[in-house]
Amino acid sequence: MNGGRKKAICFGLGPIGCSIAKLALMRKDRIEVVGAIDIDPNIVGKDLASVIGIDGPTGVIVKSDLRGVTHDADIVLHATGSFLSSTRSDLIEFCKKGLDVVSTTEELAFPWYRHADYAAEIDTLAKQNGVTILAVGVNPGFVLDFIPIALSGVCSSVKKVKGERVLDSLTRRLPFQRKTGLGLTVDEFEKGVREGRLGHVGLEESIAMVASALNCHIDKVEQIVSPKISQGMTLSGSHSTIEKGKVLGIIQTARGLFDQKEVISYRMEMYAGAENPHDSITIVGEPEITLCIPNGTPGDLATASLVVNSIERVVEACPGLVSTKDLRPASSVLIP
Ligand SMILES: NC(=O)c1ccc[n+]([C@@H]2O[C@H](COP(=O)([O-])OP(=O)(O)OC[C@H]3O[C@@H](n4cnc5c(N)ncnc54)[C@H](OP(=O)(O)O)[C@@H]3O)[C@@H](O)[C@H]2O)c1
Repeated sequence: MNGGRKKAICFGLGPIGCSIAKLALMRKDRIEVVGAIDIDPNIVGKDLASVIGIDGPTGVIVKSDLRGVTHDADIVLHATGSFLSSTRSDLIEFCKKGLDVVSTTEELAFPWYRHADYAAEIDTLAKQNGVTILAVGVNPGFVLDFIPIALSGVCSSVKKVKGERVLDSLTRRLPFQRKTGLGLTVDEFEKGVREGRLGHVGLEESIAMVASALNCHIDKVEQIVSPKISQGMTLSGSHSTIEKGKVLGIIQTARGLFDQKEVISYRMEMYAGAENPHDSITIVGEPEITLCIPNGTPGDLATASLVVNSIERVVEACPGLVSTKDLRPASSVLIP
C-alpha cells in the first residue's frame, strides 16, 4: 500500500457503485480510480464516465472481472450484493490478490453472529494475505449500530437500546424500492419475504454489532416483516398509481433477546410517501439519552460516502475482517 493516493477499483456499478465511483473520482488528491468492474454486458467496455454520467473520458474502461484490470491497486470498493452466498468468492479473490476491501454487503457488516464459519474463513484469509476487509453502509454500518455504540459511551450503564428509522422509499434508488415490495400484491409480498427476496437485510447484523460492543450476549433475534398497505396513492413525478390494497413498502421490526428479555429493539418503516422521516436512537440507561435526526440520514449518499470515507481507515488498519465498531470513525473532508 503506497503512502499517497490510494489506487481503487470500483467493483459493482449499480446505483450505489456509481455513486461510490463518482465520489472517488472527485477525491483526486487522495484516490486514483484504476479499475471498474461490473458483470452487466451493457456497460462492459464503456468508459466509466459514460456509465456514471459525468464528463469524460476517465480512461478507465469497465471490465467484466478482476483479470481485466492491469493496474496495481490497493483497495476494492465493492457494491454488488447483500448476501455472503453471492459475494464470498469475489471476497476470497480480493484477499488472494492482496487487496483491501470496503464493501456494502449487508451480511458482511457483522458476520460473526449469523455466519461465524464464513467470518472465520475470511478473517484467516485476510490475515494470511495482509489485507483488511470492512463492510459499511447507512444501515447496517451507521444509524442502528455505529450511532448507538457511540452514544452509549456517555452512559455509566445501559439497560436497553431502542432505534427507529422511518424513510420515504421514493427518495431512494429503484433497487431499494423493489426490495421494499412497492406496487406488489400482499400475496406477492409475502412470497418475496418467505423466499428472502424482500425485506431489509442487516438488522440482525446491527443488533449483533451493538451487543458485541456493549459486551452483551444475544440469545436470539426475532424479526417481523409486514407490508404497509396503500389506501390508493399516485406516485409523485410519475403517472403510476399504487392501487388501494397493494403494497407501499415494509414495516420491519427486530428484537434482540437476552435471557428472554428484550435488550435491543429496532423498527424500520420504509415505504412510499412515509411522513415525518427520521432516525431516532434511545439509550435507556444512566443517563437516558435520545438522538433524533430529523428527515433521517439520506441512505444512498450516506452509503457511498461511508465507503469512500473509509478508505484511509481501512488502509491503516491491521489485517483481518473488521467491523465498523473496530476502527476509528469514518470522516469526510472539509473544504471551506
Ligand atoms: N449497508 C447498507 O446500508 C447498504 C446501503 C445501500 C446499499 N447496500 C447494498 O449495496 C449493494 C449495491 O447496491 P445497488 O443498489 O447498487 O445494487 P444493484 O442495483 O443490485 O447493483 C449491483 C451491481 O453489481 C453488479 N454485479 C453483481 N454481481 C457482480 C459480480 N460478481 N461482479 C461484478 N458486478 C456484479 C450488478 O450487475 P447486474 O445488474 O448485471 O446483476 C449491478 O450492476 C446492494 O447489495 C445493496 O443492498 C447496502
